[in-house]
Amino acid sequence: MKHCIIYAHPNQFSFNHAIKEKVINLINSRGDQYDLIDLYQEQFQPVLSANDFIALQNNTVNEELKRHQKLVSDAQNLIFIYPIWWFGQPAILKGWIDRVFSSGFAYREDEKGFTPLLSDKSATLIVTLGSQKETLLQYGIDDFVKNMTVGTLNLVGISNINCQQLYAVPSLTSSERHTMLENITI
Ligand SMILES: Cc1cc2nc3c(=O)[nH]c(=O)nc-3n(C[C@H](O)[C@H](O)[C@H](O)COP(=O)(O)O)c2cc1C
Repeated sequence: MKHCIIYAHPNQFSFNHAIKEKVINLINSRGDQYDLIDLYQEQFQPVLSANDFIALQNNTVNEELKRHQKLVSDAQNLIFIYPIWWFGQPAILKGWIDRVFSSGFAYREDEKGFTPLLSDKSATLIVTLGSQKETLLQYGIDDFVKNMTVGTLNLVGISNINCQQLYAVPSLTSSERHTMLENITI
């Protein structure tokens, strides 16, 4: 199987970095293949510009976005690794979705309605949070990945989603971190 890892964290000493390394080890140990999109490392420009917008309306994208779309197309499983920031994904990842999951690539919208185009894929979401689940529940929100699972992946046809939400990461002991990493699945 081929995976495409979409990784969004700026710090190479972060827990997210350790998760990314663990995921790569798991892929290698299975004999699977992968491509890595490291959004900060490649300084991905996340703003959907006026030119992008015009291109989107004509169902075209520039060469950089075509390269990203090919990496997505080539994979059977998309693995997203990111921290929750302000109850959502980092802006660089949000912008990647805005620009890469374009009309004509991730979905088609015409007189017949909305057609998902990525339904041959599954996804793995591994997200980290700073707070305990109980603390976050007090805000009345119990799911910080719904914008990804329902609002993005389901819409483009991906319903087989392995979702792992890792809470209270900054306050974990090193042995708790170790156990958390060991429990990650792809
Ligand atoms: C800009 C910013 C916003 C954050 N917003 C949230 C939040 O909404 N909810 C939460 O639980 N943690 C929040 N955090 C904490 C991070 O999610 C947490 O530190 C991170 O997931 C830990 O993983 P890391 O060590 O790989 O960065 C935020 C952190 C930053 C820097």
